[in-house]
Amino acid sequence: MVMSFSFAGQGTIRPARAADIRALEWHGGPDLRSWYEACWRDHQSGALTLLVADLSGFPIGQIVVVWNGKPSHPHFPDLQSLRVHPAFRGGGIGSTLLEAAETLVAKRGFPQSGLSVNLDNPHARRLYERLGYRATGAVYDEKWSYRDAHGNLVELTERVADLVKDLEVEART
Ligand SMILES: CC(C)(COP(=O)(O)OP(=O)(O)OC[C@H]1O[C@@H](n2cnc3c(N)ncnc32)[C@H](O)[C@@H]1OP(=O)(O)O)[C@@H](O)C(=O)NCCC(=O)NCCS
Repeated sequence: MVMSFSFAGQGTIRPARAADIRALEWHGGPDLRSWYEACWRDHQSGALTLLVADLSGFPIGQIVVVWNGKPSHPHFPDLQSLRVHPAFRGGGIGSTLLEAAETLVAKRGFPQSGLSVNLDNPHARRLYERLGYRATGAVYDEKWSYRDAHGNLVELTERVADLVKDLEVEART
C-alpha cells in the first residue's frame, strides 16, 4: 500500500494488479482495452507505474507515472491519465492519487514531477495548481492512439499546457 484515503469506507492507493486491468474499463469500455493492456505490460516492465485507488478491491481511480518523462521534461517523470470514477469525484481521491504518485517520484530521488493538462479542462488544471503545479509556459499538441474493440486505429491530438511541481524529496523519503 502506498497511501490510504477515506470515502464510504477505507480505501488504499496501491500498485495495479492484473485483475484491475479489465475492471478499469469503467472508463472507455472495451475500446480502450488495448490501451490498458499496453499500460499493464509497461507497468510490469517497470517503464511506468500504474497506481489505483482501491475501494473494497475495486479500482475506482488511477494515475500513471512514466519514469522517463517526455520530450518537454526528459529528466524527471511525467504523471499521466489521472482519473476517478464519476461516482467518486469531489472527495479528495484525485488529490490523493496525485500525492501518492509524487511520493513514489520523490522516493526515487527526482526533485520534480511534470504533467500536462488539456486546455479545455480547467477543472483538472485548477486541481493541479491547487496542489502546487505551475505552468512552464509550454503549450503543445500531444498525440496518442489506441486500437478500438474492432481493431481500428484511433488517433487523437490534444492541445495541452505543460505543468511542473518541485517536490520535497527529503520529506517524502
Ligand atoms: C480530475 C479528477 C481526476 C479529479 O478527481 P477528484 O477525485 O474529483 O479530485 P479531488 O476530489 O481531489 O478534487 C477535485 C475537487 O473536489 C474538491 N474536493 C476535494 N475534497 C472534497 C471533499 N471532501 N468534498 C467536496 N469537494 C472536495 C476539491 O476542492 C477540488 O475542487 P476544485 O475543482 O476547485 O479543484 C476527476 O474529476 C476526473 O477523473 N476527471 C475526468 C478525467 C480528467 O479530466 N483527468 C485529468 C486529465 S489531465
